[in-house]
Amino acid sequence: MIDEEWRYFAPGGALMPGGPSTWYILDWDQRRIIAVTMDEEQESEDVAIKYLHRHIDTLGPDVYGIHLSQDGELVSVSTSPEDDETRCVYYPPLQTIEDRLSGPIKTVLRSDLIELDRLSPNVDLVSYTLCANPTNTKVIFKYYFLIQFLHKLWHEVNLWIRLPPHPNIVPFDRLVLDELHGHIVGFTSLYISGGTISENKSRMFKLKWLEQLICVIDDLNFRYGIAHQDVAARNLLVSPKTDAIMLFDFNYSCRIGGIGYD
Ligand SMILES: Nc1ncnc2c1ncn2[C@@H]1O[C@H](COP(=O)(O)OP(=O)(O)O)[C@@H](O)[C@H]1O
Ligand SMILES: [Mg+2]
Repeated sequence: MIDEEWRYFAPGGALMPGGPSTWYILDWDQRRIIAVTMDEEQESEDVAIKYLHRHIDTLGPDVYGIHLSQDGELVSVSTSPEDDETRCVYYPPLQTIEDRLSGPIKTVLRSDLIELDRLSPNVDLVSYTLCANPTNTKVIFKYYFLIQFLHKLWHEVNLWIRLPPHPNIVPFDRLVLDELHGHIVGFTSLYISGGTISENKSRMFKLKWLEQLICVIDDLNFRYGIAHQDVAARNLLVSPKTDAIMLFDFNYSCRIGGIGYD
């Protein structure tokens, strides 16, 4: 479940001087956009978000818009598809990656994933079972829901999938394909239990983890020519199996000197 503080985001709005105002509010938890209309002018989305939060869990799946009174009471709801502001995301065909990689690519269908928890706006904890390997595998499913962030996923997939196995990098797992066309909707990485360094502050930080961290950064920089660019406690895990620090989240990573290098 996503913390209330991070649950909502307004990709846009339609505001008239003096009102009415409509804010399109994305609920990261339900992955849908609700158009919140109020008769007054609302310069920022804050009031719409505050009042939407009161009602969101009572709105049916067919509701695309709500009209609220000045004090946040529900005046009416709209189920008209014309009010649906949710945008389709373009998912690239598998071939786009397949053609450029040597060796087979492991994939899993999105419909084979069982959702266990939402960890952040674009990240779910899921599990899957494959015929060839009937044990249940817990993995992290990362994907994008908003078209304007899709390039980040694409970049992250292409970089991470090419990294050689490393004891201090969370292993890339599979590309996730949509069940209809086989297009790439996201990817999975192996789930490492125990929380990130920032989530689990009661854990004593070991000197050897610092050494491992320096080592993995050196390997990325000097052996693979990659700058991670987001090394932070929130992007570090500790493997309970190997007691080793594990780096992940390659959203901001790039080739040193290449596009995106700061
Ligand atoms: N492989 C993993 N194992 C365990 N938890 C993970 C893993 N990958 C991500 N997480 C959890 O999900 C959160 C968001 O993942 P991350 O890749 O950092 O996304 P973002 O790009 O949104 O920061 C992390 O802070 C962590 O709590
Ligand atoms: Mg992160």
